[in-house]
Parts: sequence; C-alpha cells; structure tokens
Amino acid sequence: MSIHPRIRVDPLSFIDQELSRLKDGSLYRSLKEANTEKNSKICVEGNLLLNFCSNNYLGISEELDLSKFQLSSSNLGGSGSSRLISGNSALYSQLEQSIADLKGTESGLVFSSGYMANSGIIPSLAGKGDAIFSDRLNHASIIDGIRLSRASLFRYKHNDMAHLDSLLNKAQSYKSKLIISESLFSMDGDIAPLNTLVELKEKYNALLMIDEAHSGGIYGSHGAGLINELDLVKGVDIQMGTFSKAYGSYGAYIAGKKNMIEYLINKVRSFIYTTALPPHIIELNLKALELVKSHQWRRDLLKKNSEYFREELVNLDLNIGKSTSHIIPLILNDETFTIETCDALWKYGIAAIPIRPPTVPGGTSRIRFSILAAHDRNDLEFCIGKLKQCLKQ
Ligand SMILES: Cc1ncc(COP(=O)(O)O)c(C=O)c1O
Repeated sequence: MSIHPRIRVDPLSFIDQELSRLKDGSLYRSLKEANTEKNSKICVEGNLLLNFCSNNYLGISEELDLSKFQLSSSNLGGSGSSRLISGNSALYSQLEQSIADLKGTESGLVFSSGYMANSGIIPSLAGKGDAIFSDRLNHASIIDGIRLSRASLFRYKHNDMAHLDSLLNKAQSYKSKLIISESLFSMDGDIAPLNTLVELKEKYNALLMIDEAHSGGIYGSHGAGLINELDLVKGVDIQMGTFSKAYGSYGAYIAGKKNMIEYLINKVRSFIYTTALPPHIIELNLKALELVKSHQWRRDLLKKNSEYFREELVNLDLNIGKSTSHIIPLILNDETFTIETCDALWKYGIAAIPIRPPTVPGGTSRIRFSILAAHDRNDLEFCIGKLKQCLKQ
C-alpha cells in the first residue's frame, strides 16, 4: 500500500492567523506594566498618568499598606490547602460574619475571586432541564458560569423587564428558573431595575442572583450595596460581590440564607477544588471592610466627582449611554476611532481604557472612564479639556 505524501500543516499556525485577525480588526490586546501611585495617579511603563482606568473607586487600596498597620496573620505565605482541607483560617469566619452583618443576611461565604464565584455558583444552582435568564450585558464570569451549567439560556435585552417577563412566561415548563443580573453594569455604568427583578422573581417563583461587583462599597448604608439601598434584601437569593473593586483588595463573597451557603460549600467546584486565600488577604479584606463602612466621605466625593464628569460630557453632547454612576462610558462606536482617541488621551497623560468587542457588543466600542474619589476638580477639568481636543482632531 502506497502512502501519499501529505502536506504537513503546522498545528500552531492558527495562533499567528488569529493574532493577525485581532490586529487587523483593532481588537488586539497586550499587557502594559502598571503600578498604581498615590491618589489619582498611575505609572504605566514609566509614565505617570492621571488614572481613569482603575476599579479602586474609593482609594481603599492605598490604605491597605502594611507599613500603616500590623497584621495578626503570622506570615505572608499561602494557606497551604483548600478550605475544606486545612486552609480554613479562623479569619474566614470573622470576614463572613462581617459580610453577613453588612448585607443583612443569615450567612456569608468568601471566594477566591469574583470570576470563581460566578463561574462556580451558577452551575451549582442550575443544570440540564433548568432555565437561566441573563441580562445581555452580564459579565463574562456570569456567561461562563451559565455555559458550564448546561441549563437552557434565555438572554433578555439589557434591563428590558417586559422582555424578561415574556421569556419567563414562555419558560414555565422548566424545572427551576434562575434570573441573573449585575446591579450596576460594569461597562455601561447604568443600574438594573432591581425592584422589578424581585417582582418577576416572585411572579414566576424563580431564584434571583445579583452581582454587586461595582456597586458594593459605593451605595447603601455603610456601602452595603444597591440591594441594601433599595431595601430588597429579602427578595434576592444570592447577593454576590467582590473585594477587588471599591474594597481595593482581592477576593469575593456571597451573602444569603444559611442553608444556601451550606449548599454552596458542598456543591461549588471553584470553592471546593481550589486553594484557600492566604490568611493575610483575608485580614486585608477585614480591614478594607472596616474602612469602606466608616469612610462615608469617600462615597460622597465619588458621587460628587461622578456627577460633575457626567454632566460635563453630556453638555458636550457626548454619548454616555444611560450611566448614572462613577462608571462613565464615552460611546464612540467605531473600534479604530475608539483606540485612536484613547491613544491621544494617553499622550496627554490620561489613562483611560478602550473597551471593544467581545467585552461589549460590536459597534458599541467606548472609552470607559472610571471616576475615583481621589480625583480633584483639576484632574476632571484637565481630562475633559484634553478629551475635547482629541475629539476635534
Ligand atoms: C460584574 C463583575 N462580576 C465579576 C467580576 C469578577 O471579579 P474578580 O475581578 O474579583 O474576579 C467582575 C470583574 O471584572 C465584574 O466586573
């Protein structure tokens, strides 16, 4: 039998092809070395820039400075194991109790990151034969959790409660139903209609999970979040949030009923099969929680700064979508124009990030301005002045 000589294709050739496709479509991403500096500055590749790209909204990260306070954790090393083995330091229960107290729930549970919380919890709550109802603009960690669950997915138009109602109505035959939304959308800065989400959850006897990653620490009494502010604690089954944004630290949490937390400890693979956070991170989170709770002045400053910046952009007739918060997208639509405008801002010393597909839907590329409590009026005026110049060019 003769063997036909085959043309051998390099099995790695797809990598260069895909990289070229991303570059040609202005969708290529690369890492830049960055170090947050004090207040509103960030140092990127040796250049000191005005920081409009951080999620450290309240400036808490700068306060978590080991030279300012002593840690009781005996070392700065790792935890050595998962929480169900030997990594469950006593600090965890302190932090979980503090979260439950703040959120007004029976219990809390800490996760290693928000991504791990969302991608692990969702498949433990819904599976084959169940239905998940997810806002079209929900974060990638939620989307990945839904994919892992193998439940049927119903994506409703962003914040469109009539659409969600009609999807829930059509899906009555599913075993169980889970509705998931962010409270404050990470790339749009607008707020979900949480009251109506609770009403629909009750109408259709569904579960409701709300991701407060970007509203935790910012809204509500002592920064407890939007669910707290709107007095909806009883209507939300799973309150999720992170320590990585306004809390300026790392890790995530869930707040809910005691039996829900017990169930998650037993079921969530990204909780069971991963090493516990190092004790000093838990301790930093406890410290961050105390600072966020007591520093109302940071929330007040953030609100004032955000209102000013939004108003100025609207007065310039610029499209900021429906933002009502400290996350202010300047929606420019075209990918290339968005990148060029961002590049021009960086040359003026302003660090703001272009957000393109797949993070946002095609044709809605934007510059995401992240306002900080640490910005002063000069920072904001400088940014707006330079933005005007860039858009005129
Ligand atoms: C809405 C939302 N949920 C979850 C996450 C993930 O959180 P973490 O960064 O802690 O993994 C993010 C972070 O980008 C987010 O924006």
